[in-house]
Amino acid sequence: MAAIGTDIVKAKELLINGEVIAIPTETVYGLAGNALNAAAIAKIFEVKNRPSFDPLIIHTHTIDEVKKLIKTFPEKAALLAEAFWPGPLTLLLHKQDFISDLVTSGLETVAIRIPKQPLTLDLLRALDFPLVAPSANPFGYVSPTLPQHVNDQLGSKIPYILDGGPCDVGIESTIVGVENDDVIIHRLGGISREDIESVAGPVKLMPFSSSNPKAPGMLKSHYSPGKKVVLGNIGELLKKYNPTRVGVIAYQKFVDEVPRDRQMVLAEDGRLTTAAQNLFLMLRAMDKKDIDIILAEPVPERGLGLAINDRLTRAAAE
Ligand code: TXA
Ligand code: MG
Repeated sequence: MAAIGTDIVKAKELLINGEVIAIPTETVYGLAGNALNAAAIAKIFEVKNRPSFDPLIIHTHTIDEVKKLIKTFPEKAALLAEAFWPGPLTLLLHKQDFISDLVTSGLETVAIRIPKQPLTLDLLRALDFPLVAPSANPFGYVSPTLPQHVNDQLGSKIPYILDGGPCDVGIESTIVGVENDDVIIHRLGGISREDIESVAGPVKLMPFSSSNPKAPGMLKSHYSPGKKVVLGNIGELLKKYNPTRVGVIAYQKFVDEVPRDRQMVLAEDGRLTTAAQNLFLMLRAMDKKDIDIILAEPVPERGLGLAINDRLTRAAAE
């Protein structure tokens, strides 16, 4: 198993040596390596079992650092950066030639974000190179929001997990591209569509696809636990599925038909931020229970709810 700790000096040394380690971010834990070291990048793909057509996000700590990695900074992208960095926003920007095709899967754009997690920001400040970091889960599985999640699945393959505690946001960053002044959301995430629009005006939503390699993050079946997930109104679903063999992830309220030890509620306080924090945690916990099927209820379709429902829908896709 990997060592877990808060030692930035150790993390820095491992990264300088080309190692791959897990780092906390406010969204989910990332599997980080030197973005300028081809061997480290290759190791990330190997540890995650990630197909090479799926590009990585570069993490750095200031907008000046971002500018060194790109050719142009469109005005709307700059406005979004000012408004939401550090934070759960990833921008797709035209890359400088020195950024490896391994990072971008050959695309001309590179995904970049400035994360908000204090320990990771300290680490980025201490390094003289940026970090590439996909979510620290095996490809296709639910993203990790605790060090233990990373250790459970990748602990035997990496030396160190930098421990920042539970992730504040709990779902991945919102990915936004700006093309010819059009603002396009490529992945819903920790910053709501409404918040993006309040800064950059009307946006388009990239349609989800299971076959378009230009938008690999949009794979229809993704974020899935091992168990079958069925999405819908819990009361209706319980007419169809045997209550003795199911687990329930509900939005706000427990149901009567299923014992409490096989139920979880995303947000007893009715807040979508709470639901986002709990989502991946609860999918993982349900996945470990002695049940056949996870019944999950969609959350209200506003604010962070769009991203939460997106992840639930993809967890349920076969
Ligand atoms: O919150 C997050 O974004 C987390 C933390 C660790 O920062 N990272 C994360 O990375 O979710 P990952 O690799 O699991 O998801 C990144 C997504 C992928 O689906 C990838 O296809 C997409 O970003 N992506 C990366 N570069 C892209 C590009 N140039 N064009 C379109 N999509 C891109
Ligand atoms: Mg991921």
